[in-house]
Amino acid sequence: MTASAPRAVLTATATDFRVQSWEPIDFTLRYVDGVFAPENPQVADLYRDRGRCLAIVDETVHGLYGDRMRAYFDHHRIPVTIVALRIAETAKSLRTLERIVDEFAAFGLLRTEPVLVVGGGLTTDVTGFACASYKRGTPYVRIPTTLIGLIDASVAMKVAVNHGKHKNRLGAFHASREVLLDFGFLATLPQPQVRNGLAEMVKIATVANAELFGVLEKYGEELLTTGFGHRDGTPELRETAHHAGYEAIRTMLELEHANLHELDLDRVIAFGHTWSPTLELAPDTPMLHGHAISIDMAFSATLAQRRGHVSAGERDRIHRLFSGLGLAVDSPLLTAELLTRATDSIVQTRGGLLRAAVPDPIGACRFLNDVTTTELADTLAAHKDLVTDLPTAVEGVAMWSRPA
Ligand SMILES: NC(=O)c1ccc[n+]([C@@H]2O[C@H](COP(=O)([O-])OP(=O)(O)OC[C@H]3O[C@@H](n4cnc5c(N)ncnc54)[C@H](O)[C@@H]3O)[C@@H](O)[C@H]2O)c1
Repeated sequence: MTASAPRAVLTATATDFRVQSWEPIDFTLRYVDGVFAPENPQVADLYRDRGRCLAIVDETVHGLYGDRMRAYFDHHRIPVTIVALRIAETAKSLRTLERIVDEFAAFGLLRTEPVLVVGGGLTTDVTGFACASYKRGTPYVRIPTTLIGLIDASVAMKVAVNHGKHKNRLGAFHASREVLLDFGFLATLPQPQVRNGLAEMVKIATVANAELFGVLEKYGEELLTTGFGHRDGTPELRETAHHAGYEAIRTMLELEHANLHELDLDRVIAFGHTWSPTLELAPDTPMLHGHAISIDMAFSATLAQRRGHVSAGERDRIHRLFSGLGLAVDSPLLTAELLTRATDSIVQTRGGLLRAAVPDPIGACRFLNDVTTTELADTLAAHKDLVTDLPTAVEGVAMWSRPA
């Protein structure tokens, strides 16, 4: 038996066979500064013995970094086959997954051969699910290139595609063997995408890491405009950026590592994801995820203050942080009717309870299950009055997703 072989027990009686098996989940997230710099061996080390590599790469990332990737593999004398893909949210589908699987087959991918996946959350989610399905489970290695990817989509082990109008309806729990973290990719990430990722970072800070919240209050706008210090940032800012990214990932893993299959539905990291799933898809052009969740979080902060879980001063700090980063804090689409509809929908997803995560106080979390329709409507009216003078009261900066 090898070290990673499952521990298993078979119990046979006259009338039953019972199988119990415990399979380890073991994956590493590793920092590499310049993942495709020839002197860095981490990627080559994963593929040298196999003598080849299949890489699925986001098309924009390929345009920016494709030459560097090829030069890297040439330097290490490892033949590489690169498939560049453009996947919009509307193409996060089984059809795109099938296209990727066709590429696996054309390459003659062996079941034990890890696919290299380079891109944002869309590329890693769809290709990760293709790997989960291909021959019932093929390994993969992720190199996230967006802030969402670096601090969120590539951190745990969920992969998925959309189905019909339902986001992430088909998916799997399939951990990548390694995640190589290179925040240097943020040098080229457009600012609206950095802002999108910052919303998730503020999320985790608000309900689980008060120190990170303070860092984002002080440096958030600078992190946004400099691509986390990788575009015209001072060494000090780069250090702060590293600390913020590290803390976001560490906090998320501390919260989630014992709940990788999400069996516990009280999830701190679901702050901002109670009413936003309905809000995000309400307009004809969906709003960027970061803005949808910041509206939800700003509203939740107002709710938490009315319940006495945060002070008025803390509530205002939360509102100001989102607004200062150009994230929306309210929307004309956020109505009492939408909140009721969104509540009904999320209660179904969350096993019959609302489980609305709110700060209690900043840096800690509690879950609310007893929010009535009347309380939602009253809180909404108060919220709209409160935020009306903030610059992003109803329209965040670059808040609409691009067409497919
Ligand atoms: N699996 C999870 O746990 C999880 C968690 C969070 C989000 N997600 C999923 O992630 C997806 C969103 O991911 P995303 O925000 O990374 O979007 P994305 O993958 O679409 O990337 C955003 C845009 O940035 C471009 N891009 C990527 N890296 C770049 C770089 N370094 N320089 C320049 N441009 C670059 C892409 O081409 C794209 O246009 C959603 O589908 C969401 O459901 C999954």
